[in-house]
Formats: sequence, C-alpha cells, structure tokens
Amino acid sequence: MERTLILLKPDAVERRLCGRIMARIEDRGFKFAGVKMLKVTPELSRQHYAEHVSKPFYPLLESFITSGPIIALCVEGPEAVRVMRDMMGKTNCRDSAPGTIRGDFGLSRQMNLIHGSDSIESAAREIAIYFKPEELIATTSALEPWLYASDEVK
Ligand code: GTP
Ligand code: MG
Repeated sequence: MERTLILLKPDAVERRLCGRIMARIEDRGFKFAGVKMLKVTPELSRQHYAEHVSKPFYPLLESFITSGPIIALCVEGPEAVRVMRDMMGKTNCRDSAPGTIRGDFGLSRQMNLIHGSDSIESAAREIAIYFKPEELIATTSALEPWLYASDEVK
C-alpha cells in the first residue's frame, strides 16, 4: 500500500487545527502508519527542503518551519501521494478550492498548514527523514474491504 509523508506545520499546531485535519485524513479512509510531534531544526529543514534551499524565499521558509512544533504523519492508503495532494489544495491557500484543507483553513502562501510529498520517490525519501523503520506500524483493519478492497492497491 502506498505511503506519503504529511507534516502539520507550525501554524496548524499553533492554531489548534491538527485534530480537525487528522480527522479529514481518517474520514477519507486513510490510516496512520506513523505519528510524531517534533521541532524541525535548521539542519532538518535544509534536508527536507533541499530543492528550495537556494531559492529566495528559503530563509523565510526555514524560520517558519522551525518556529514551533509540527506533527509528522506517515499516511497510508491507495494512491496516498496524489490523493493527499488533492485534499491539501494549492501551495497558496488563496488559490485553493473550498473543500481542500488549505482552501478551508488558510489565506497564506507560506503558512499553508500542511506539507505532503509530491511524488512516490519524494515520499520514500521524506518518510525516511522523519521516521525510523521501527516507528512505522503496518496494520490491517476490518474496514479495508469496505474502503478499497476491490481496487488495485499498490
Ligand atoms: P509543501 O508540501 O510544503 O512542499 O508545499 P508545496 O509542495 O505546495 O509547495 P513548494 O514545495 O513549492 O514550497 C514549499 C513551501 O515553501 C510551501 O508550502 C510554502 O510554505 C513555502 N513557499 C513556497 N513558495 C513560497 C514563496 O514564494 N514565498 C514564501 N514565503 N514561501 C513559499
Ligand atoms: Mg513541495
């Protein structure tokens, strides 16, 4: 089954929105293979956002993502990477459709509440940054036949 790395960013924690965002993820039918609260260090930020380190907005991004605790989630389910990106909305909350997480809870481009891996390759890289293998727990739920058993699952 496909896994993706989701971060509930410092604004989501500060604004007490984590429970509501996690409920949306579970309501959709996904499950959590790993859950962790932590503070991102500048080193971790540079590792995670390696593709953005040389961009002009990186210093602002680093000071935001290290400004308070985050919640890291390993989310599992069919096409988890793509479906979670759809649920999140666009990078800029103001461009995000109502019904998406960013479209319902935000108005900022930088403080956009949630991170989700943008490809299966990124997901594998990012999950390994935030979770040790033994921190990820594979479970099978009795609900799965009702949620997606007849689909082709990866
Ligand atoms: P992530 O899931 O967090 O990676 O967001 P994304 O994939 O929708 O956007 P992207 O990877 O392009 O940018 C990473 C993060 O940097 C965004 O989520 C924003 O928090 C921030 N960001 C992106 N573009 C800008 C910008 O132009 N200015 C500022 N200040 N922040 C930006
Ligand atoms: Mg990104």
